[in-house]
Amino acid sequence: MQTKTVLFIEGDGIGAEVWAAGRPVLDAAVEKAYGRARKLEWKELLAGKKAFDATGEYLPEATMTALKNCDLAMKGPLETPVGGGYRSLNVTLRQVLDLYACIRPIRYFKGIESPVKRPDLVDMVIFRENTEDVYAGIEYKSGSPEAKKLIAFLRDEMGANVDDTAGIGVKPMTPNGCKRLVRKALTFAVRHARPSVTLAHKGNIMKFTEGGFRAWGYGVAAEEFADKVMTEADAQAGAKKPVIIKDRICDALFQQVLINPEQYSVIASPNLNGDYLSDALAAQVGGLGLAPGVNMSDEIAFFEPTHGTAPSIAGKDLANPGSLVLSGAMLLEHIGWHEAAALIHASVEKVISAKRVTVDLAGQISGSVQVGCKEFGDLLGQGL
Ligand code: NAI
Repeated sequence: MQTKTVLFIEGDGIGAEVWAAGRPVLDAAVEKAYGRARKLEWKELLAGKKAFDATGEYLPEATMTALKNCDLAMKGPLETPVGGGYRSLNVTLRQVLDLYACIRPIRYFKGIESPVKRPDLVDMVIFRENTEDVYAGIEYKSGSPEAKKLIAFLRDEMGANVDDTAGIGVKPMTPNGCKRLVRKALTFAVRHARPSVTLAHKGNIMKFTEGGFRAWGYGVAAEEFADKVMTEADAQAGAKKPVIIKDRICDALFQQVLINPEQYSVIASPNLNGDYLSDALAAQVGGLGLAPGVNMSDEIAFFEPTHGTAPSIAGKDLANPGSLVLSGAMLLEHIGWHEAAALIHASVEKVISAKRVTVDLAGQISGSVQVGCKEFGDLLGQGL
């Protein structure tokens, strides 16, 4: 029997419920696809409140050590209390494990009401850079000594005219950081026979950061994927290669994905653009309720539903386990167990078409019957 070990963190809030409802669906899909020939082996790691109750730490050393030495993990949502207490566990995990690529597939499931006319044409995978850009955390408050010092430097040394009262943020973007993200997107496109990779940038305005992203992205394509990837200009000149790399200015791309979604497949983006695009695209196919994701380094693929701990519905059997189940399907695709992933996608479609869904989806599907978290998981299992 081929077994694949997955380290998992249950998570806070609705974490326990969505795991209890969702994990059996993943195991059942593997069993249905491969009988006893393949199996997922789950090993729990402690983090968040469950870890604190057991060890007095929110992110125990044993958890970090195990994660640093694994290639496959999955987590539920972890709470970040507003206003301090402790540092965001999600940010800590991202930084310590160097999870530089945030990857979110956006696809439509028949039956969900969408704000656009042809949501069925949406089938995109967003690769968002996760460590750089204005999210790097270099920011100084308006009027602070640090902001004043930086403003004085910009004025006196660099000749830049910045108002004395400005809050200041810095936007670092490196060739390495941008290239490794685009490399991951191109590798994915080639491996999964995706027709195009679009670089989403604002390089017309921010020439050395966003413009750098564009230039470095094309550079990776030319230097490392010349046999598989061509530019739009190459294609117009008659070249034939499996993947086209193109770029769009991000504001125009927001229009494009609404008007011509079929022209976009893989999107590679710096951090901020990617953040906005991921949620906007998820809304185009009916919201975040069914949005899976993965954060990746070169060593580890760390899958997670994109929602948070949903404290107001935690413990009430109201949560939708669909995002966790679809994150599991991504994991199965990642390890090449495509048949099991396909069974899950088909089941999600079947259960949604039967209009028996959790409360979040019930609001988007007229004539639907509301079921609880556990029952929704059971239905997904039966639909395989
Ligand atoms: P949230 O995603 O927990 O909730 C937003 C809204 O969506 C709420 O109305 C909630 O009830 C609903 N919702 C979320 N997941 C749902 C599900 N599976 N089924 C049905 N309804 C669902 O986001 P919020 O409220 O901003 O954050 C709550 C906590 O979660 C915070 O501590 C935040 O830091 C944390 N969080 C953790 C994330 C992670 O671990 N990756 C991601 C986002 C938030």
